[in-house]
This record gives sequence, structure tokens and C-alpha cells, in this order.
Amino acid sequence: MAFPPSFIDELVARNPIEDVVGQYVNLRRSGANLFGLCPFHGEKTASFSVAPDKGIYYCFGCHKGGGVINFQMEIEGLSYPDAVRALAKRAGMTVPEDEQYESRYHQQERLWALCKEAARFFHRQLSAPAGAEGLAYARKRGMTKAILTQFGIGFAPNSYDALLKAMKQKGYTEEELLAADLVSKSRNPEKSGHVYDRFRNRLMFPIIDVRGNVIGFGGRVMDDSTPKYLNSSETLIFNKRKNLFALNLAKKSKLGYLILVEGYMDAIALHQYGFDCAVASLGTALTEDGASLLSRYTEQVVLIYDGDQAGQNATKRAIPILEKAGLQVKVLQMRDAKDPDEFLKKFGADRFRLLLEESSNRIEYQLNAIRKKYDLGEDDQRVKFLQESAELIGTLGSAVQREVYGGRVAEAAKISPDAMKLEVDRARKRLQYQQKKKQETIDLAPARALQPKSRTIRYDNMKSAMAEESVIAQVLREPALLDQAGELKEDMFSSGLLGRVYAQLRQRHEMGLEVSAAVLTDLSGDEMSHITGILQRNQEPVSEQAFQDCIRTIRAEHQAAGVSTEEDLLAFRNQLKERKGLRS
Ligand code: CTP
Ligand code: MN
Repeated sequence: MAFPPSFIDELVARNPIEDVVGQYVNLRRSGANLFGLCPFHGEKTASFSVAPDKGIYYCFGCHKGGGVINFQMEIEGLSYPDAVRALAKRAGMTVPEDEQYESRYHQQERLWALCKEAARFFHRQLSAPAGAEGLAYARKRGMTKAILTQFGIGFAPNSYDALLKAMKQKGYTEEELLAADLVSKSRNPEKSGHVYDRFRNRLMFPIIDVRGNVIGFGGRVMDDSTPKYLNSSETLIFNKRKNLFALNLAKKSKLGYLILVEGYMDAIALHQYGFDCAVASLGTALTEDGASLLSRYTEQVVLIYDGDQAGQNATKRAIPILEKAGLQVKVLQMRDAKDPDEFLKKFGADRFRLLLEESSNRIEYQLNAIRKKYDLGEDDQRVKFLQESAELIGTLGSAVQREVYGGRVAEAAKISPDAMKLEVDRARKRLQYQQKKKQETIDLAPARALQPKSRTIRYDNMKSAMAEESVIAQVLREPALLDQAGELKEDMFSSGLLGRVYAQLRQRHEMGLEVSAAVLTDLSGDEMSHITGILQRNQEPVSEQAFQDCIRTIRAEHQAAGVSTEEDLLAFRNQLKERKGLRS
């Protein structure tokens, strides 16, 4: 534990969860708990709950949960130590400094400073003789002086040690340059240990996070050689999935939406032509992290991926990810040019604005894509078009929407709106039936249904894991049970996560400290959410008998070290339910 446990206890006690959450969420009391709209996913009805007595929050919609420290981490995107610092500040407490954390933070600060120096160096080269070719290339691509300055675009000279030398002179070490991925180590055994500039003869795009730190670079060749772009690999300060190019600028846009494009050049061109709300993914497909980052700054995203097949596929994949993050999605179908950069340079901002106004919501976009597949002059193709469109419209939750879009499709295929409505209703029934079937299959496969919601947590021995969950839940409700846990040890747990949690709770209990979910440390957000979920699912009163049964199961499974069969599992579940007097 990095911070002394007693300090964490006081921190948690001095930051009541309802007060901290209340700064971000409008909470209403209902019984012992408080409810509000979840700040982590878009929703219209309140499924986000806070339990002041347990010191935890839990969302029944997105299953995020945890104590006050986790909340601070999630809502502000902070690391554990930074969240602790923020809460300490809020409560007017001084933080006992932790050396390891200090050095990690110190290291990060060095890398931020180094990357900023490197960006300055590259940018200066653009106006130096060594960078003449880079400047000419940037100009040929239509970039103005102003945009080169605004984005801090630069040039990496065609040299193996230009940056290395310049940065060493500023007091940075080879280790630090390696850690920032600005130099590489030679693989040649004769030159072993020798390092050289990683970016050479490339136009350089600094990648800047929302706090304004330079965290990495993308570098483009000036001809057709490969790789076209070279990007920084992940470092202590650079995470591709959690950052978006140009968001540092776009977050200040007054346009009220964000544009998401594929390439650095596209984002830059959009800014240059007045669309200062454009951001680009960093050479990877859009991830949930990226979508969640976007949702912190806007409610509406316009997707503009390249017009080719790859771009269409990427659009299809990005839509549900963005919608899941609570964002409204519009799609601009690129035409007459391969990407926004090319379009703007060919046709200008006004034509682009027209495209933008025409950009459609995702249903319109998907209906268009279906429409393009069929020749409506042919009867059999017209039927297929109607059926496929009905399938899509049938997925819409709103009856008004189903009617509007159904009507449009009917018109295109020249059939009556009523006939279309019948088709949509049928598709909808089929869909509901399929979903019901799917749910039944899940319910009948307990081993799978009981697996944690988060994909990063898996149970190997389900029978033991259920008993382990029950132990954790009961101990959190009644810490005194730990006095009767006897020989139950961390290594008997089949789930590493639950074992770690148990060990922490037990240690705290032995030290006479607070035992609660809110004070758990060293857990990821997913892990913490999972533990909070366990608490939510195990609300039955604690029973010594059930507790001992669980311990027996864990020990027996540990000794057998075998994987239980589904039959065993079902029997065990029923036993547990009976004992707890639960409905089946
Ligand atoms: N990309 C990459 N590595 C490559 C090629 C592409 O990381 N070898 C990423 C870059 O982030 C790039 C994006 O994918 O910006 C889109 O690639 P592409 O459409 O090929 O490049 P453009 O951004 O259009 O660049 P340009 O107009 O200069 O060709
Ligand atoms: Mn391009």
C-alpha cells in the first residue's frame, strides 16, 4: 500500500461519498440511498446510486461502481495517487509523500518536458536550412504559416543524432530519450548500446493531450516510401487509445459538436478551413476510451472517415462505440474526394459546409448503405431492400422514428406505408423473439452468465468463485466474521482478484482498521466496479452458517484444484439460494 491505511481511512471519512458525487451529479434521496443520472454513460432515467452508509456508488446501467476514491479517479480521469491528492486537498489534509509515487510522477514530468523540448526543436528546424525540404513539403500540402505554428508542426532532420545531441545539451539522458521513444537502440551487435534518432527526414506532428502536454509524435515521410507515418509507441506518458489528436484545440471550439476523422492531415486541414472542432484517432481504430474522452467535451460527433471500403467498415464499427458512450452520431459520407483534406483543398470550405449540413444520423446513413446495394427496378431486389430496411427500422425503440423512416423507405420502394409498417412490426417481433431466446440461452448457461460483466475479469473455477464472492460480500457487511475465517488464506482463492481483496480486508481487520469497499486499494476501475457489483447482488443478511459453508467450499475446491462441472455448479447455486432464502 502506497499510502498509510490509516491515512486512507481518514481521507474516506472526511470525504463523504454523497458530497463528492454531489459535486457532479444531482442526487435525490430514496430510502437509505441516493439516486441520480449516471455521469459515466448517457441515460435519461436515474440508475446511478450512492449508498452513504457503505461509502460506495454503483450504476445499475453501466455497472461502474466503487468508493469515493474510485469515483474521483473515474470522473476526473486521475490515477489513484492523484485522486487521493485531490480528495486530500478537498478535505484540507496533507498527504504523506510516497517515494515511489514521487519518482514516477517526477519521471512523467521529465518526459513531458523532454517531449516539449523535442517539439520545439523540430519546429525550429522548419525555418532552418536543414528543414527546407520539410517546409516545402508542408507548403505543397497547402498548410499555412499560421497552421504550422498553431499545431507546432516540425521537421526531423535527415540525421542520426541531431535530436539526440540537442536534447543531451539540454540535460536529458539517453535513458530518458529512450523512455520517450525519441531514440532507438541499435540492434547491430558491434554498435550494441548505441542509440540514434528514431524520427529522421519526416514532417513531425506533435501529439498534445487535453492538459496541453506534448506526449508523442507522428512523423510523415515526404514521398511514397513506407511506413508513411511513424508514430511514437506507448510510453509512460503516451496512450494511443486514451488520447485524440487535436482535442487540445477542438475542446475549445464553439461549434457545439466534434468531428472525428481518420488522419492527422484531415484534422489539420479542417482546422485550417475553420472547422476547429476536428480531432483524429491516433493511428488506431476508435476505442471505448476514445469515445468516452469525446463524451466529456460534446454530445454530438460527426464521423467523417475516408470514402473507401476501409473507411466504411471503420464507420460501421465506430457508430455503436460512440452511441454506447451516450453520444449522438452523425455520419458524413465522403464523396468526390478520398478524405476531408483532399476535399477541402479541391472544393473549399463552403462546399464542405454543405456536405456537413447534409450529414445524416446513423439510421439515415445505414438506410442509404442498404439502398445502394439494390436495384429497385427489379422486383426481387426491391423485396430484399424492403426486408433489410425493415430489419434495421425494427431495431428502433421509438414508434415515431419507426413510422418516419418506414414511411421514407415505403416511398422509395413505392409501396404503401401500411404495408411497410406490417413488415417493420414483423421484423420487430422476430427481433424480440431472438433476444428472448438469447437471454434464455444465457440464463441456462450459468457458468457463462455468472462470469463477471467486465471482459478483463474471468473466473476459472466458478463454484469456488461464487463462494468467494459470498465471503467478500459477507465480510464487508459484517467484518467480525473475519475472526471466524480461521485458516482461509488468500492463496486458496481461485480468483486472484477476490483473493487480493480478501487479503486486504483481513489485514485491515487485524490492524484494527476500517473494513469497507471504499478503502480498498490497488484495484483497477473494472475490478472495483466488479467488487461493488458483488455487494449489490449479495444483499441478504449475513449468516454464520452460510459463511462457514462458503469457506468449506473454497477449501475443498482448492484441495481438489479441479474445475467443477456445470451440474455441481447448479446444485451448489441452489444450495446457496436455499440457505439464503432467495427466490429461484
Ligand atoms: N497511419 C499510421 N501509419 C501508417 C499509415 C497511417 O499511423 N503507416 C495513421 C495516421 O494516423 C494517419 C491515418 O492513419 O493520419 C490515416 O492514414 P491515411 O489516410 O493513409 O493518411 P492521411 O492522414 O490521409 O495522410 P496523407 O494525406 O498525408 O496521405
Ligand atoms: Mn489524406
